[in-house]
Amino acid sequence: MPEKNQNQRFMFPRWVNYLLPLLVIGAVGGALYAPVIVNYGFSAKTLNVGYAPEQPVPYSHELHVGELGIDCKYCHTTVDKAAFAAIPPTSTCMNCHSNQPNVNGVKKGSVKLAPVYDSYATGKPVEWIKVHDLADYVYFNHSAHVNKGVSCVSCHGRVDKMEVVEQVKPLSMSWCLDCHRAPEKHLRPVEEVTNLAWKPAVQGNETEEEAQLRIGEELVKKYQIHNKAYMTSCSTCHR
Ligand code: HEC
Ligand code: HEC
Ligand code: HEC
Ligand code: HEC
Ligand code: HEC
Repeated sequence: MPEKNQNQRFMFPRWVNYLLPLLVIGAVGGALYAPVIVNYGFSAKTLNVGYAPEQPVPYSHELHVGELGIDCKYCHTTVDKAAFAAIPPTSTCMNCHSNQPNVNGVKKGSVKLAPVYDSYATGKPVEWIKVHDLADYVYFNHSAHVNKGVSCVSCHGRVDKMEVVEQVKPLSMSWCLDCHRAPEKHLRPVEEVTNLAWKPAVQGNETEEEAQLRIGEELVKKYQIHNKAYMTSCSTCHR
């Protein structure tokens, strides 16, 4: 029988029959599994500290804040008014980078700004990549912090020295709670929250740490910061 011969010639050992369903599950599962790993692996949430994605435009905080001295609120306009710190629209960049001649002495037609010019022409926003991304079940509010003397630097580090923004703090529950249990270690006068280089003025032979505690304790009273029970209550951050 030619048919049988052929079958036998290509026959695999019997145990392969048991393996096959596993191989199928493995292949299908793998196909689904791979993109999950890739998407999640590159999300801000998992990479956490050190995450510094390449942006569509090589915008530098070091240049614009550190050298040109532009205040954070010029671009992040809602940071002291709302939960969310707005990312500036293209029109904010075009205040200086417009192709009109002689606007603020900025050079024209930089290739690095091509996506900004395109966005201006089409009305489609530049697709900035989010760096910090807190878990959705946590309530966070910028204005609640910024208006009580918590500086950007406490949570974002020296952004004014960053060519590319990088996440420097874990945004974990224990990190939030460390400060909520002892806010006096971090508070400064509200006028100084966007001055990332601010240091507490030392008196006599105080250390800088002692000066911070003295000023911080005064500000806890002045700004009527909530008591520790409220600051560490679950419902403050999980509402
Ligand atoms: C001239 C406009 C401008 C100024 C001034 C500015 N920023 Fe930004 N900022 C941007 C833009 C554009 C982005 C989005 C691209 C990026 O992440 O670099 C951004 C992103 C950020 C991010 C990351 C947001 C995220 O996706 O998680 C932080 C944090 C930040 N800025 C903090 C600051 C601080 C602090 C200051 C002041 C010391 C400041 N910025 C001043 C334009 C500005
Ligand atoms: C207050 C004025 C001002 C604003 C607002 C501003 N810039 Fe700039 N920017 C400058 C100056 C000044 C330079 C350095 C000189 C130059 O490149 O012409 C510069 C340089 C740059 C460069 C480097 C250009 C190159 O070819 O080296 C990029 C990229 C850039 N800015 C992006 C942005 C983006 C994106 C925004 C909006 C989020 C923005 N800028 C907002 C003033 C500004
Ligand atoms: C108490 C900590 C804290 C302080 C102070 C703080 N930030 Fe943030 N910032 C965060 C966290 C947490 C996120 C991520 C929020 C999210 O994913 O919902 C964030 C996100 C951002 C973003 C991205 C947009 C957004 O709201 O998600 C920008 C821009 C930003 N911060 C700028 C600033 C600037 C500018 C200041 C100072 C004026 C500042 N932040 C002060 C913790 C802080
Ligand atoms: C460096 C200090 C610091 C860090 C870090 C910090 N906070 Fe706060 N937080 C404060 C201070 C100070 C207040 C103001 C409390 C007040 O007004 O009584 C505050 C207020 C809040 C409030 C508003 C409470 C209210 O009802 O008025 C929320 C919500 C909050 N923080 C959530 C968070 C979360 C979530 C994180 C971590 C992702 C965080 N905070 C990290 C210092 C901090
Ligand atoms: C100051 C803000 C804050 C307070 C107060 C707070 N949490 Fe959280 N919580 C967070 C943040 C931020 C995360 C996200 C952690 C992460 O993504 O790693 C979180 C995560 C969690 C999670 C998820 C599991 C985990 O550990 O990641 C649970 C459960 C939780 N909190 C329960 C509580 C309970 C119960 C309380 C009261 C005893 C509480 N939290 C108080 C900020 C807070």
